[in-house]
Amino acid sequence: MMIVYREENELIKKVLKDLNLPDRVYIFDTTLRDGEQTPGVSLTIDEKVEIAKKLDELGVDVIEAGFPVSSVGEKEAIKKIVKENLNAEICGLARAVKKDIDVAIECEVDRIHTFIATSPLHRKYKLKMNKEEIINKAVEAIEYIKEHGIKVEFSAEDATRTELDYLKEVYKKAIEAGADIINVPDTVGVMIPRAMYYLISELSKDIKNISVHCHNDFGLAVANSLAGVEGGAIQIHCTINGLGERGGNAALEEVVMGLMSLYGIKTNIKTELLYEISQLVAKYTEIKPQPNKAIVGDNAFAHESGIHAHGVLAHALTYEPIPPEVVGQKRRMILGKHTGTHAIEAKLKELGITDLSEEQFNEIVKRIKALGDKGKRVTDKDVEAIVSDVVGKVPRDERVVELNYIGVFTGDKIIPTASVALKVNDDIIKTSAIGVGPVDAAVKAIQKALGEKIKIKEYHIDAITGGTDALAEVVVTLEGFGKEVTTKSVREDIVRASVEAVIDGINKILSKK
Ligand code: KIV
Ligand code: ZN
Repeated sequence: MMIVYREENELIKKVLKDLNLPDRVYIFDTTLRDGEQTPGVSLTIDEKVEIAKKLDELGVDVIEAGFPVSSVGEKEAIKKIVKENLNAEICGLARAVKKDIDVAIECEVDRIHTFIATSPLHRKYKLKMNKEEIINKAVEAIEYIKEHGIKVEFSAEDATRTELDYLKEVYKKAIEAGADIINVPDTVGVMIPRAMYYLISELSKDIKNISVHCHNDFGLAVANSLAGVEGGAIQIHCTINGLGERGGNAALEEVVMGLMSLYGIKTNIKTELLYEISQLVAKYTEIKPQPNKAIVGDNAFAHESGIHAHGVLAHALTYEPIPPEVVGQKRRMILGKHTGTHAIEAKLKELGITDLSEEQFNEIVKRIKALGDKGKRVTDKDVEAIVSDVVGKVPRDERVVELNYIGVFTGDKIIPTASVALKVNDDIIKTSAIGVGPVDAAVKAIQKALGEKIKIKEYHIDAITGGTDALAEVVVTLEGFGKEVTTKSVREDIVRASVEAVIDGINKILSKK
């Protein structure tokens, strides 16, 4: 269920009440063009087509499929996307030059996004053209596209660093030449929301169809895009996962959720597909969103601290602004050092683990927090291993043998040696032994302490998760006194896991029960 803060939050209601906000904003996705300009990203034709189909399913209004003149492959990809007959309008980028426009026309796109830079910096150093020459070029390009019966979107590149009066004149001439929509790029992301609001309010005095295109160099792309809408923009350019040159473009998922959930403005986006498409784009671009990325990051709906987890379990909205399902995400309870008992209880329930004694539950909490204290993120597999370890152990009051102390010495010039002290009933037995490695030495020392009456028949070790700090699971089969038992133990330390598994097995053999 979409929560709309414009209706629920007093402050938002108050500041938005005098604004003339649109009912609906159009989403122009440029993942396949500006997004693909992300350093190191290059999509194959098939990947571009697959992403375009997913963007269409998501409900974007316009797909900027690429920059047709840039390569033969790019042109082919755009043509293939056009052939898919998607619901979204397919757009191709072209500089305000005939050669670029011709290639875009050959691709049979629905819309051509043509641009020319207008700022003093670009005029002087890049284009070496004066103001008038730039206007003439823009007008020529727009008229040429319109002669071919194609919709035109016109951008004054680096608009936000262009003199306002001149920018107004450029856009006025562009509209007179037939531009259907005017795009305002903040090419190097230097706007602040108030300035963006002012700029778009000024432009919208004379222009109806305004779009904004914000870069994220100062982390303000989404805020500036939304400020643009407050000022009168009706379309936002954005990319999945905020991909794009340098700091990227405005992230589509943040723009859309901001519009719909904070401003209560409609879009055509099926928000429950946002996470899925984010994952698809991350897979093909090989750029995974950072964990704390809003909406689609791994941590966007994850809770670890005891206070938050408790709150969320009592009522999800205490620490979540929207339900995760709205964007296709899932709530995740992360277990670690900040975890409280409520979250552990919920995790155990989620894993189908019930019927624990208080002693077992307390031991599980202790072990999970101890892992977290060592800086480890405790996975579900870790929890399952800890639980089965704790649950499988002989209860404390039935144990005949307990480990009192273990020490091992090992190294390339040392024969692995272990010393153990075992508490057997009320006696302490101390021994030491050597072995081929520390585990072998430790197990031999235990066997020696107990008169070698119990033998190890099988020994097996496995890592539960990856990394050198992974939990290790040791499974041993022991025989003695006419019995055979199999036990296991889980620890990060393989010597400790081995010793505990063996001692637990000994207790099972010696148990009066
Ligand atoms: O950021 C920019 O200025 C652009 C233009 C091509 C519109 O991407
Ligand atoms: Zn851009």
